[in-house]
Parts: sequence; structure tokens; C-alpha cells
Amino acid sequence: MCGIIGYIGDRKASEVLISGLSHLEYRGYDSSGIALMRGSDVQIFKAQGKLKNLIEILKDKEDVCSSAHIGIGHIRWATHGLPTTINAHPHTCDCKSLILVHNGIIENYQELKEELTALGCHFVSQTDTEVAAHLIAHEYGKTKNLLKAMQQAVKKIKGAFAFCAIHKNEPDRIVVAKRNAPLVIGVGQDENFIASDIPAIIEYTKKAIYLSDGQVGVVKKNSIEIYDENDLITQNKIENLPFEAIAISKMGYKHFMLKEIHEQSDVVRNVLSGKLISHDDKIKLEEFKLTPEKIKKIQRVQIVACGTSLHAGMVGKYIIERYAGIPTDVEPSSEYIYRETIADENTLVIGISQSGETADTITAIKQVKEKNSHIIIITNRADSTMARLADSLLPVSAGIEVSVAATKSYMAQLISLYMLAIYLMEQKGIEKYHDEIVNLKQELIELPNKIEALLENTNDIKLLAKKYSSYKDFIFIARGINFPSALEGALKLKEISYINATGYGAGELKHGPIAMLDENMPVLAILNQGVVYDKVLSNCEEARARQAKLIGVADYVAPKDKDLFDDLILIPHVSDILSPALNIIVLQLLAYYIAEYLGKDVDQPRNLAKSVTVE
Ligand code: G6P
Repeated sequence: MCGIIGYIGDRKASEVLISGLSHLEYRGYDSSGIALMRGSDVQIFKAQGKLKNLIEILKDKEDVCSSAHIGIGHIRWATHGLPTTINAHPHTCDCKSLILVHNGIIENYQELKEELTALGCHFVSQTDTEVAAHLIAHEYGKTKNLLKAMQQAVKKIKGAFAFCAIHKNEPDRIVVAKRNAPLVIGVGQDENFIASDIPAIIEYTKKAIYLSDGQVGVVKKNSIEIYDENDLITQNKIENLPFEAIAISKMGYKHFMLKEIHEQSDVVRNVLSGKLISHDDKIKLEEFKLTPEKIKKIQRVQIVACGTSLHAGMVGKYIIERYAGIPTDVEPSSEYIYRETIADENTLVIGISQSGETADTITAIKQVKEKNSHIIIITNRADSTMARLADSLLPVSAGIEVSVAATKSYMAQLISLYMLAIYLMEQKGIEKYHDEIVNLKQELIELPNKIEALLENTNDIKLLAKKYSSYKDFIFIARGINFPSALEGALKLKEISYINATGYGAGELKHGPIAMLDENMPVLAILNQGVVYDKVLSNCEEARARQAKLIGVADYVAPKDKDLFDDLILIPHVSDILSPALNIIVLQLLAYYIAEYLGKDVDQPRNLAKSVTVE
């Protein structure tokens, strides 16, 4: 979270910074700011709210905007202090000579603040970043050298950071540092760039240096120097970036989220491509580096993920346990990292993350790496920090997902997990489900067409959204492999419409949540013909008896049961085991149309960010 950008060269720095920040808005959007340097003159501009507010402020600052060729910028997702202009970055020290932008959390900022206050520093913001600015400035007072000041300061800082700093006395350089937060230096011809993420700089350069944790860099117009943790100069590889500058457009859709929901049939085709050729071929998964002998030795699988990716992992548990016969635990990364976890060389750990930068999941993966477990990363960003930690990397290639609410990346994760589960089963030589798997493979091949059929007729969902948009609470219920679908459907609704929605295993309804039910509490039930169908139907009866409004999402409901539901959305039939991939589309659309009907900021919901790089 938070996006950082820096530029040094001959272009108008303001243009590069604003363009870069616009590509980093997914990392946060509660305030933004830039600092432009001309010789020893530095001007700082900040604005609360979306980036467009900063752009508005810069409109009548043409003089400085057209003449500054060095600058740093930031887009914020508040951690310490309200999302106000004062708390927006860049931050400075008392004499305003040192200017800093930061992504991450400084854990010992209170102690540092006390020490610096005792030394006479004055703080104007509530941020941890301002403490770092004063600390670096304080070190500068001793060393008169920005590189050395940064090197000394980072040794005193606990926590995560990506820093980008300039100093009025050293107008030819930007000094950067990184620990547990992403930072990349874009390498140009007579110019260089710094960014939290590649989309911010890809239109200018296709070459980059990734900083490693603990490194500090000095970026000048014609040179880049990198220093390791021991302050010794080191050489980082210049890498070719795996991106094209893509014009990210809504392609006629009102929001990116709606476009991304509609892209899901192609996403499935992409994930299947090269892996699933036909229903009677084995799955090909060249990315998976374990030999069949090692696969046979796997005793347990642990899946770590957050948010929507966690829900994909929960579906993964069902299919890995069923087909590969390996006990599988799924846990939010944020919980996994603060207890004694049992993992060894016979444990397969799967990290799932659309961004590949989620701090909690990265920490979990780093912890487990020390236990010699094999680590698979399923991510939409093959260039991410997590991807670099992988023993086996499964890129899901869903394409850039702009909307903060994850949709198509979830679909890609689901399909990748089906591929993985079947692959593990086949490598282990398990025959038990042979016929079922042949059928599932055929269904996977046909899935894109079914998704398209579902998306062709969304009128019922639109009407449903309008009808239920005034409710303040929602309950989603399902059982079996669709329990995670209930959680994910409720999460989507919460995220973008701010309606209080909770997902439950339908069997749990009577153990507490049923107390909430009355005519003001709609219950959405997911029913698929399969082992739990009748059970969920009974749970629907229980809800109905409490006068809850009942919505069914189902592939079939017998005529005798139809009256149970106030509203029913029927979807194309797929087997129960694959049904999460279709059901979720209805729930994504329902959340989307409710939020849209309520006039919410669908693509950039309040308080959220697409990439959560703080623990
Ligand atoms: C944020 C995003 C969610 C996402 C979660 C995990 O909260 O807003 O959409 O599911 O992070 O992110 P990851 O990139 O690890 O999947």
C-alpha cells in the first residue's frame, strides 16, 4: 500500500510523477503529493483525496512544473494518522531540506519520535514517515551526505519501508532504501525512475533493477549505485521488464470491475491453455518443480493467503483433499505468522496472492522457507516479491486487474487450483476418481462458454440488485465447496457497497446467526445439485420460517420448492465440484449492481487498497 514514484532526467518531472501515481492509485488513494526540485529550491504540493485533486492544484503551478526535472511523489493509504493534507507525503524535517516519501510501517516510530523530540525536532503530522524524515535529516547533520545519512537511519528503523529521499544540498540525486516493501529502479538513457511497481514506469523504460531488502541506492541522471546492508557497493542485475505499456481502458464498460467480471471466460481459457489439452490427457504443469517421487512424499499442504485469495485457497482445500488425498490446511497469512506452525520438507506450502506483494503472505512464506518446505506461489504478478520466493511459480495470467475488488484474479486462482489438485492426483497415480476427473476436465474446457452464457443475461441480477439495495444487512449461506463462495460473495458486497454482509456455512445458521433473521435480513443461499443440496434446502426452510427474505442462486430447484424463494437466479449447470467458478460470478455481479445502484465508487472503494504491503 502507498505508492512511491521518483524521477531524475530531462523530462518534466511533474508529468512523470503524476502519470506514475495514476498507475499506482490501486495502492491507495486517500491523499497524494509530490516534491519538485530545481537546484536547491524544492516545492511540495499535496492534496487530500483522489489524485485528481493534486492535478487540480498543479494546474496553476506551470512555472515550477515545467522547469523541474527531479522529483519524488507519493499516493497514500493511511496507516498512521488521518488521510489529511498534513499527513500526506512528502514529509520534511524542521529546516525543510530533507524531503521523503515512504511506503511501509515504522514500528519503533514512537521511540524514535521521543528521541528526536528530545533533540529539538518538531512534528507537524501524525505519521511515522515524518519521524523517518527527521531521523535522516538528523543523520545528515552529522554526515553531510545523504547516502550516509540514509544508511545510518535505516539501521535505527524497525519495520518495513521503501524510501525515496532528496536533499536541497544534493540536487543531483535521489536516495532510495528498501526493507520488506517493494521498490524498483527503472533504468533509462540519461534518466532514471523509481517506483513501487512497474506499471508506473513501463511507458518510459523496459529495464529495471529490483532492490533487495536492506539495500540503499543513489540514483542520479546517468548512474545508479547500490549498497548492501554492510554499506558496501554492490551490483544488481538489470532485468528486462515482462510488461508492455498497455493502455488500460474500460473498453466501454462503466467500471473496471464490470469489465473484469466479463473477462473471466478468457481468463479461464488462458489458465487452461497448455495445461489442459483434452479430457483424456494428463494435466501438464511444467512450472511445478517437484518430481513425482517427491510429490508422493508430501504429507500435508498448507495454504496461506489473505482476503479473496484466502477464499480461493479454501476452495483449493476441498479439491486437493478430495483428489490428491493430502490433508490441507488453509489459514489467513496474518494468523499463520504468529503461532508455532508445523511444516517440514514433506510439506507443500501454497501462497496465493493476486498482487504477490501482500506483506502478511510474504512473511508467512519467508518463515516457512526456513523449514525446507516446497513453496508454490499462485499469483497474477510473475514479477512480484512473492514470485521471487517461489520454488514453483504458477503465474495465473489474468491480465492487469484495476478494480480494487478482486474478480478475475480470483477466477484465475480457482482454475489454477483445479489444475494443481488434478496434477497432484495424477502424479501420485491415484485412480479412484478417474471417471469423475475425465468429466471435470471436460467441464473445465466448457466452462468459458458457460460463463459467457451466464454473462449474456444479467437482467435478473440487475433487478435483484435494485430490489435489495436498500437493505442494511445480508447473510450469505452455502455448504461444502461453496462455503467459500458464500464468504467471497459477502466480502464483495461489503467491499464495494459497504452493506454489512456475512457468509456462513448454512449448517451454522442455527447456532447463532438465526437470531438475526427477520423480514429485514435477506438470506442468499447457494444451492447446487450435489451432496449438500438437500441440506442447504432445509437450512433455507429454517430461514424462511423466520420470515427472512430468501434469495436462491442455484443450477436447479424442483418446482415444488420454488415458492420457498422470494427470488431465484438460475445458472447453467455444472457439477458441484466446479460450481464455485460459476456461482461466484452471480455474486460478483450482484455486489457490483447494488454498489452501482447506490452510486458508490465501485473501482476504488473507501479505505481499501489493491496491494496491502503492510502487516
Ligand atoms: C487487499 C485487496 C483484496 C485482496 C487482498 C489480498 O485487501 O483489496 O482484494 O484479496 O488484499 O491480496 P493478494 O494480492 O494477496 O491477493
